[in-house]
Amino acid sequence: MTTVNLTSTAPASLAVDVLIVGVRPAGGRRGGVTGPAALPAAARRRLEAAATALGAKGRECELTKVPGTGIAKAPIVLAVGLGEKPPNPETQRRAVATALRSLAGKRKVGIVLTDPDPAKVEAVALGAMLGAYIYTASRGVGSADKPEPVRAVSLTGNPRDRELRDALARARAIGAAVCFARDLVNTPPSALPPAALADAAVEAVADLPVDVDIWDEQALVDQGFGGIMAVGQGSANPPRLVRLGYDPAGATASLALVGKGITFDSGGLSLKPPKAMETMKCDMSGAAAVIAAVAAIARMGLPIRVTGWVPSAENMPGGTAQRPGDVITIYGGRTVEVLNTDAEGRLILADALVRAAEESPDVIIDVATLTGAAVVALGDRTAGIMANDDDLRVAVWQASHQVGEPMWHLPIPEESRSTLDSAIADIKNIGDGKGGMLSAAAFLREFIPDGQRWAHIDIAGPAFNEGAPYGYTPKGGTGSAVRTFIEFAGSITGMEGWRAQ
Ligand code: BES
Ligand code: ZN
Ligand code: ZN
Repeated sequence: MTTVNLTSTAPASLAVDVLIVGVRPAGGRRGGVTGPAALPAAARRRLEAAATALGAKGRECELTKVPGTGIAKAPIVLAVGLGEKPPNPETQRRAVATALRSLAGKRKVGIVLTDPDPAKVEAVALGAMLGAYIYTASRGVGSADKPEPVRAVSLTGNPRDRELRDALARARAIGAAVCFARDLVNTPPSALPPAALADAAVEAVADLPVDVDIWDEQALVDQGFGGIMAVGQGSANPPRLVRLGYDPAGATASLALVGKGITFDSGGLSLKPPKAMETMKCDMSGAAAVIAAVAAIARMGLPIRVTGWVPSAENMPGGTAQRPGDVITIYGGRTVEVLNTDAEGRLILADALVRAAEESPDVIIDVATLTGAAVVALGDRTAGIMANDDDLRVAVWQASHQVGEPMWHLPIPEESRSTLDSAIADIKNIGDGKGGMLSAAAFLREFIPDGQRWAHIDIAGPAFNEGAPYGYTPKGGTGSAVRTFIEFAGSITGMEGWRAQ
């Protein structure tokens, strides 16, 4: 992963391959750009003249490369546009990420910060880590000409300033978590069956004060986790349930996060068409987000009790697979008539939600690539939030908005629940096909005890980017919901007191 440091070396003296500077529209008749005040006046004028001559306008994320001669020690200076309006953390993250992505193949990069404050350091460091990210683990001998991610980034700012160091440590914890989640999602499904996902969870928290419990297939059968077992029974790779427990001294609030961990979704006997299956390694993105968020929250030492739940199975159509028409018993005793084996996420989540609620946390939030209907309704960049509590739904949205993860509110209408009525069991796993994101939420809500606050986030759209990279979002796994969870955990404890360890 890309390392980010603070340096007290003057920008013009930095020994780096490329120096990144932010530029903004100069305004006035001559147009062009203005450079950062942190550069010496003469160097800044040369940069502005060169970038302007090359057509730079200072628009958001616009990139202009100029020779470093006369400006800095670095052989190349990359001017990145910050836009007309005063840059905010989101525009800073996007601009820096766009610059870092374009520099893949370079080793050392410097970033000029003018008057660095904690918010700026955090946004720029995080943008750098997220933008530099490339999944390289599947490259073979034929990939020698593909560029490596930038290795090291230096930000100009006093490394002895306690507040700047804390901000950088926060960015590192969050950036590492998002990149970890992306790596898990990008890992080919053959390399990440449920047991391997459980191992990855163990490894993610190995150096942290987090307890790990793992239920194997025998324990799942013995304790009646009928949803997880039913979904996993058509696969040669047995299912798992993982519990991650972070319980810091003095914590007053408690949060349970539950993530869908379908390591591959073929649809089961209700088989998906080939095109729809191509991206279904991403069906454990909720699990990845939960594991990554618990690790980051523990690493940051946030004073909140957090429990991560990861139900995991591979949804395959083997000869032992569950059949449309089967009735299964979820943990706790509710029966489900399974009419479509491709609506499997809700079955494993039901088990985990009932189990999570046994511990009566203040809040349960589940996250899942749950429905194609979410993509139809909200597109592929916005997640849907549903809840049994309006204040909680708003608080989740606020956290998402704060960190720049697009999410929006959806209802759980009463009629959604009645479409799930089964003639023979307590409930069936599909509705009438209309409002599929909402009936999935109505299904999950059935498994939440009265009085338990719960929210559900459907990330079927934003979890996996099939298109070109944009901002700090790469192609493939995106790490969706990780930052919202960290922000949410911080928002209910008060982030002010947090310090780097
Ligand atoms: N994993 C899929 C949902 C999905 C679709 C995620 C596209 C990411 C991108 C889920 O298990 C599924 O197949 N849902 C079905 C439910 C239906 C059968 C009620 C769907 O949405 O078609
Ligand atoms: Zn499915
Ligand atoms: Zn699925």
